Amino acid sequence: MAVNLKGKSFLTLMDFTPGEIRYLLDLAHDLKVKKRAGTKGSALDGKNIVLLFEKTSTRTRCAFEVACMDEGGHVTYLDSGSSQMGKKESLEDTAKVLGRYFDGIEYRGYSQKIVEDLAKFSGVPVWNGLTDVDHPTQILADIMTIEEHCDKPLNKVKVVFCGDIRNNMSYAWMYGCAKMGMHYVAYGPEELEVDEQVLAAARAVAEQTGGTIEISHSSECLKGADVLYTDIWASMGEEDQIPAKVELLSPFKVTMEMLKETENPDILFMHCLPSFHDFETKLAREWKEKGYDIREVTDEVFHSRYSIVFDEAENRLHTIKAVLIATL
Ligand code: CP
Ligand code: NVA
Repeated sequence: MAVNLKGKSFLTLMDFTPGEIRYLLDLAHDLKVKKRAGTKGSALDGKNIVLLFEKTSTRTRCAFEVACMDEGGHVTYLDSGSSQMGKKESLEDTAKVLGRYFDGIEYRGYSQKIVEDLAKFSGVPVWNGLTDVDHPTQILADIMTIEEHCDKPLNKVKVVFCGDIRNNMSYAWMYGCAKMGMHYVAYGPEELEVDEQVLAAARAVAEQTGGTIEISHSSECLKGADVLYTDIWASMGEEDQIPAKVELLSPFKVTMEMLKETENPDILFMHCLPSFHDFETKLAREWKEKGYDIREVTDEVFHSRYSIVFDEAENRLHTIKAVLIATL
């Protein structure tokens, strides 16, 4: 069946059918070939998009900017300090104004309701560039990267997400795996409670697609994994939780021993980035001085032959470009 996503917002993968997600992935694979060949696109000629960032970003912002400009579009960037949104002007009024200037709006920030309201009031497609509970453009890139590195069809792939199993990446993975019929295991400490509604929603979809969504507190779950995925222990906005998170999640730091426990010689290590894997960052050094090792993965794993994190980061560009072209 033909897929038509024109005018549709991209707020969560839960709003898309497996066929629509397949369409976006295929388009992203094609756009990567085109980019590598140096072929200039014109799919976004005459389009203007605005990027709203209330949290910091390297990959997502740059991917949206380059993706749009590669296809002939124009980009305006607004961070939380440089617009009236939320301070002098309500979200509703801001959305109504932006919808009259721009063909689409990207938002990165806090609650999922903000992206939903932006879509409701602006009347143009809104793309979720990360909220507290989801990061759907990241999952598209991650699945694309798995397809490049793993010979198995997606419905045979087992992803183990290790660490903060109740963060936006863990939930986004639940949705992605459920939609694509994949096997997802959230492996972390019992103390971190996964949102029951998120779990139930993902499991209901998985029942239809043949996927499996599990929570595990035992390293037994590592066996047979195709992908071992982790993320920083304290997400943006949760920095005050670092000491408690270090205590809770240190046993879940990704190490070579953990990779061995998968019993898969072709195990893939993935991470959305940014990552604390050494002490080359201000934050990792500052916390080390206070007695906390915030590294969620060892440098050895990060730089090992199992690690595909930079292919994954590159694919943010191709998948975001696919989303822009498909929805505008
Ligand atoms: N993975 C990701 O979203 O990276 P940024 O925070 O740099 O955008
Ligand atoms: N969980 C992380 C993801 C960053 C891409 C955060 O929200 O900070």
